[in-house]
Amino acid sequence: MDTIKSEEQVITMTQFRKDILTGLQASPKFLQAKYFYDHQGDLLFQQIMKMDEYYLTDAEMGIFLNQSGDIAAMISAENTPFDLIELGAGDATKSIHLLQELRERELEFSYLPIDISANVIRHLEEVLPLQLPGLAIKGLNGDYFKMLDKGIALSNRRKVVLFMGANIGNMHMEEAMAFCRSLKEHLSTGDMLVIGFDLKKDPKQILAAYNDAQGITAAFNLNLLSRINRELGADFDLKSFEHYACYDPESGACKSFLISEKEQVVHIPGESAISFGAYEPVYMEISQKYSLKEIEAMARATGFLSKHLFFDEHKYFVDAVWIVD
Ligand code: TRP
Repeated sequence: MDTIKSEEQVITMTQFRKDILTGLQASPKFLQAKYFYDHQGDLLFQQIMKMDEYYLTDAEMGIFLNQSGDIAAMISAENTPFDLIELGAGDATKSIHLLQELRERELEFSYLPIDISANVIRHLEEVLPLQLPGLAIKGLNGDYFKMLDKGIALSNRRKVVLFMGANIGNMHMEEAMAFCRSLKEHLSTGDMLVIGFDLKKDPKQILAAYNDAQGITAAFNLNLLSRINRELGADFDLKSFEHYACYDPESGACKSFLISEKEQVVHIPGESAISFGAYEPVYMEISQKYSLKEIEAMARATGFLSKHLFFDEHKYFVDAVWIVD
């Protein structure tokens, strides 16, 4: 087991190096958001979720705390056994409320959380059965679509897919479309998707969520440069890069960049030097915000029927229930 694990780490390390170099040698430069979440990044993201400015987590939590009964009723209306597949389950702190409601209704279902982190899956398989005795759970560790195929092959029950946390927002709109289309291709008529979108709202409120006064989001972004220093032996000078977030209320794109504050050169051992111009940006991530019209259009364009929208009390966020047409 240990050997396999260290092999996995070697592969991941090579991939990390490759992806980082691809991004830094590209024009314009970019870094992949999935690499934010090392140990330090996880801790910083937990702090982000607790910030006053970051309304997203509380909003979706509100939906699952207050309306899980209604969501449970909706996904079990057919009264047939089903598999509940969660993409990017994390610690399941929101979905646990839905699981609880489903258990209380004595519905026949299995919970199949999918996550890229083996730790997350191990933890869920250990902890959830203690909190929800009798829960049928099978964790799937790996890539969304590979694991989705695996999950689908396990039984011929109907499927309900959860894709929460505004994860869909971390894709550009066209990518999000392609993602939903491909989800639909993996599913069958009558299967359901519960998908979370952050809504277009006061631009100042959105920008503040990605540009907090305390600088936690800045630290979160800069941590990826530290990680590259730590893991690849690079020599990024963190003091000469600054976090910059912007929100375009028209397109709904909220983007984060790290800006090189001066002309500078960064070295990664074994590679040729990487030069940065003064004020050259490194694109870090998008968090796409949607209008209800855009969500509706996306459902239709990707082969789903929009069945219901669950909002938080402020209408900051929506979990949409879609059915494969
Ligand atoms: N991807 C999440 C989001 O869009 C997490 C996040 C919050 C984030 N702030 C960030 C990612 C800043 C990158 C940069 O809400």
